[in-house]
Amino acid sequence: MAPLPPPGRCVAPSILSANFANLAAQVREVMAAGATVIHCDVMDGHFVPPITYGPVVVSALRDEFGDEIFLDVHLMIERPENHVAEFAKAGADGITIHVEATPHLDYTLSAIRDAGCRAGLTVCPGTPLDSFGWVEVDLALIMTVNPGWGGQPFLRNQLDKVRSVRAMLGDDAPVEVDGGVNPEIAAECAQAGASWFVAGSAIFGSDDPAAAFREIADAAGCP
Ligand code: DX5
Ligand code: ZN
Repeated sequence: MAPLPPPGRCVAPSILSANFANLAAQVREVMAAGATVIHCDVMDGHFVPPITYGPVVVSALRDEFGDEIFLDVHLMIERPENHVAEFAKAGADGITIHVEATPHLDYTLSAIRDAGCRAGLTVCPGTPLDSFGWVEVDLALIMTVNPGWGGQPFLRNQLDKVRSVRAMLGDDAPVEVDGGVNPEIAAECAQAGASWFVAGSAIFGSDDPAAAFREIADAAGCP
């Protein structure tokens, strides 16, 4: 199974807001500031309206950075079971799927694990956590905005889900918050039990992504 980065808290920069003409340099910048997890948002134009990128970008990052980073792939695509093998082959370390995207959650999560990756499960803001009680997951992601776009405001009512899923999964599993995260909000999420803090526009929309990364990491109590 793919290695997890050191246990505990970490900030996972989302390349959705990065400059794709300069992607490797942007990733290198946050890695120099301490990033060990890079969050990759895959969108298909069906599950969510936008289309972003597919395995080609995951594979390019894997080739460029080798084992230095944990590639945390968030699939906002319908029927993710049809694409697990492709993303695993491209070099994903973790693959997170949406409860709403397939009727075959247990099958898909098992396929992710069989392919050598960590299996993540996530829910949109309007979806309850019920499915988490019925499947085995290595990490939970709580959407704190509606999936599809960077730069949206954080949905504070999702903090209750963070607390609940932390209680369901115990202390060790990563509980990730995704959307609208800035330093103040990261601190609130950490308080609620989150351990991975995805941030796109707050990092790559900043003039100094490394400093923005450090600010969120410090606020969240990351090493
Ligand atoms: C939204 C994506 C997020 C996005 C977050 O659908 O899942 O990962 O990059 O962007 P910010 O941090 O700008 O809210
Ligand atoms: Zn995401």
